[in-house]
Amino acid sequence: MTEPEKRALAVRVALLLLFGGWPASWGQKLDRGEEIFRSACAACHGWDARGQDRSQVGFEQPLPDFTDCNFATREAAADWVTVVRRGGPARGFSEIMPAFGEALTREQIESVVNYLRGFCAEPSWPRGELNLPRPFFTTKAFPEDETVVTNAIHATGSPALLSHWVYEKRVSARNQVEISLPFRFLNPATGRWRGGVGDLALGYKRVIAHSLNTGSILSASVEAVLPTGDPARGFGGGVTVFEPFLAWGQLFPSEGFLQVQAGFELPTRTRDAPRAAFWRAALGRGFFQQGGDGRYWAPMVEFLADREFETGARVVWDVVPQLHVTLSRRHHIRANVGLRIPANQTAGRPVQVLFYLLWDRFDGGLTEGW
Ligand code: HEC
Repeated sequence: MTEPEKRALAVRVALLLLFGGWPASWGQKLDRGEEIFRSACAACHGWDARGQDRSQVGFEQPLPDFTDCNFATREAAADWVTVVRRGGPARGFSEIMPAFGEALTREQIESVVNYLRGFCAEPSWPRGELNLPRPFFTTKAFPEDETVVTNAIHATGSPALLSHWVYEKRVSARNQVEISLPFRFLNPATGRWRGGVGDLALGYKRVIAHSLNTGSILSASVEAVLPTGDPARGFGGGVTVFEPFLAWGQLFPSEGFLQVQAGFELPTRTRDAPRAAFWRAALGRGFFQQGGDGRYWAPMVEFLADREFETGARVVWDVVPQLHVTLSRRHHIRANVGLRIPANQTAGRPVQVLFYLLWDRFDGGLTEGW
């Protein structure tokens, strides 16, 4: 055992003795978040919650800075409660972060987590609770650092595989930029497969309003879809399209949620593509395994509507039932499976089997946190 490891062990043993040996009534007195933090957490996390000096704690593992809003607002309180109750490894973090589930009551843990929340003093950062599970089509209102690869396979009609790569980058409290590129592999009537790149899209999103009290978040976005694909071969629309839209996320009690997106498709040349309006909604509910500490599942159903501005055009509807699930312990790698089912105007609109893999890059590397 190296010297820092020994010291880390000594800290942990001291804590264990401290908490393990405490009479329950004594622990109960510590009901204020601040007191709990000072006696149980500050030795490692520092009085100012920026992380105690490495030479003091005797381990190399970097400590988080809870005053850094960019870090401290990302996770929902429930995730921190899990880490404090069950220890770092419960969410794929270092085992140096001890488990306090035996030493502290749930109320005490919630109040110390609440106290930790106070260290980020800038209200412009929307809280992680408002970061709802990502549906296939309805854009989230929350600004993200996610990479998502979505695949769609035609289950009816002529065979095709569509793959859509999205890279989102949060640039500040409220702002996010994104780039996305679709790939298509088609097997038209000729029977020969061919592949190609579709239309590249650039996007910008800004959070307009958010409130944890009401459980709401509203964003405005604009996307520019550039004609990088070859429409003659079946890839891309052949015209630049601007898509301004609003996205709204709403939490309900018992882990229920609704996400809504509505906007316009405005091609620069209406000769090649009609103007259209679209609106989408995703209704879902989250379920945690192991009383909140385990995997997170979210069954959702999306309703997609698109209407061209031409006279006589009808609203085209799709229904998309889907199941979203966390794969990694840290919940930063997630998957979603579903079906896109045309609900009307079904001619030439195949049923699609959908699947995505999502990586929240801020929470860790692809191989971390399992
Ligand atoms: C023995 C040292 C130690 C003590 C005591 C300790 N922590 Fe930690 N804690 C850590 C370390 C180290 C990490 C970082 C783990 C990682 O990044 O892998 C951590 C991480 C965390 C995180 C996770 C942050 C994230 O990245 O999402 C939370 C929340 C947390 N601690 C809260 C607390 C609270 C509350 C207490 C007191 C009840 C406490 N810790 C006591 C060492 C400690």
